[in-house]
Amino acid sequence: MWDALWIDVDIATCATPGDYGRIENGAIGVQDGRITWIGPRGELPGPVEGLAAVLHEGEQKWVTPALIDCHTHLVHGGQRAGEFEQRLSGESYADIARAGGGIRSTVAATRAAGEADLLGAALRRLKPLIAEGVTVIEIKSGYGLDLQNELKMLRVARAIERQAPVEVVTTFLAAHAVPPEFDGDSDGYIDFVCDELLPGAVEQGLVDQVDAFCETIAFSPAQVERVFEAAKLFNLPVKLHAEQLSNCGGAELAARFGALSADHLEYLSAAGVRAMAKAGTVAVLLPGAFYTLGETRHPPVARLRGEGVPIALASDCNPGSSPMTSLLLAMNMGCVLFGLTPVEALAGVTRNAARALGLGDRRGTLETGKAADFVIWDIEEPAELAYRLGFNPCVEVIRAGAPTLVR
Ligand code: NIG
Ligand code: FE
Repeated sequence: MWDALWIDVDIATCATPGDYGRIENGAIGVQDGRITWIGPRGELPGPVEGLAAVLHEGEQKWVTPALIDCHTHLVHGGQRAGEFEQRLSGESYADIARAGGGIRSTVAATRAAGEADLLGAALRRLKPLIAEGVTVIEIKSGYGLDLQNELKMLRVARAIERQAPVEVVTTFLAAHAVPPEFDGDSDGYIDFVCDELLPGAVEQGLVDQVDAFCETIAFSPAQVERVFEAAKLFNLPVKLHAEQLSNCGGAELAARFGALSADHLEYLSAAGVRAMAKAGTVAVLLPGAFYTLGETRHPPVARLRGEGVPIALASDCNPGSSPMTSLLLAMNMGCVLFGLTPVEALAGVTRNAARALGLGDRRGTLETGKAADFVIWDIEEPAELAYRLGFNPCVEVIRAGAPTLVR
């Protein structure tokens, strides 16, 4: 006897690249939190009444893998609506950062915030993501930039897993900006990141992966390389904010270190695409940042597709470049702004998002043996998920085989 069985559902398994993996009138059997059987209802190994302890009837709604937000800065203090106004009156993101605003202003707010307040604010931002069927979220540090505050951010990220029905993947991003106490000494700060901050955070068991911001207004490829070497000493996977505002060759560097993903990528070169393809590095596109900053340069989607680089989409939820808490909107923007197909957009927040977090073997698609994390949607076609703006058709979220959210 299985624990539970869902019938009368249409399923998009996302198991094959370039395809929804449609199973019309399908069934999903669940045992111990995993999928034990999936296929057309007509092929079930017996009458539905005798197969599982609990039978769920889906009224012919659609089922997809649960969503995965693979790039967020969900934990942060304060907000930057003032910079939004500055940008609307003509200042650029880079100008504001160079003048000491931008990431640095969130560093000040995050350092000033208590742990309980940071957690409360992050949980409020998480709520709309969970309501859209997110069961895995990546959360970066990078607004603390000293030991006490980087640890504080990462502890809050871990605490989220205990307070909400999500799995959290933590990412150490101390190489996000140079803090005021290292003004004019970015190399000295990188030494501090590698020698003190990373070992301190790893010692507390707070780091799942390591990221950096490779950009003219942030860190050079040579500095990022030192951070990646430090990550290697701890056997931690790496990823990179790369080619967002200019082409620094970050993607090639990330690929050389076998990075799980390179993220943003508006200025990615043909050589960068090839390097990522060879290394199996996922391209994480962040249309919320492109949109919010009013960028005009598009990531090379046709080339990524042509070289077979897996494409993921994420919210990049952060107070500066992407104050967004919707993966459904990221899917719509991925299609409208970047030219992804709705099939690619769905794969981008399921199958390829799982790969970008190194979780591809157990999450992101609906297949036997994988986590029984899935969403039930009140839609007629899977393309509806990317098509609507500001409408959430999620009716139920199943996590580890159990309903966690019913709307
Ligand atoms: O992914 N690009 C760098 N980091 C963030 C923005 C952080 C911020 O502006 O606070 C991003 O866009
Ligand atoms: Fe980011």
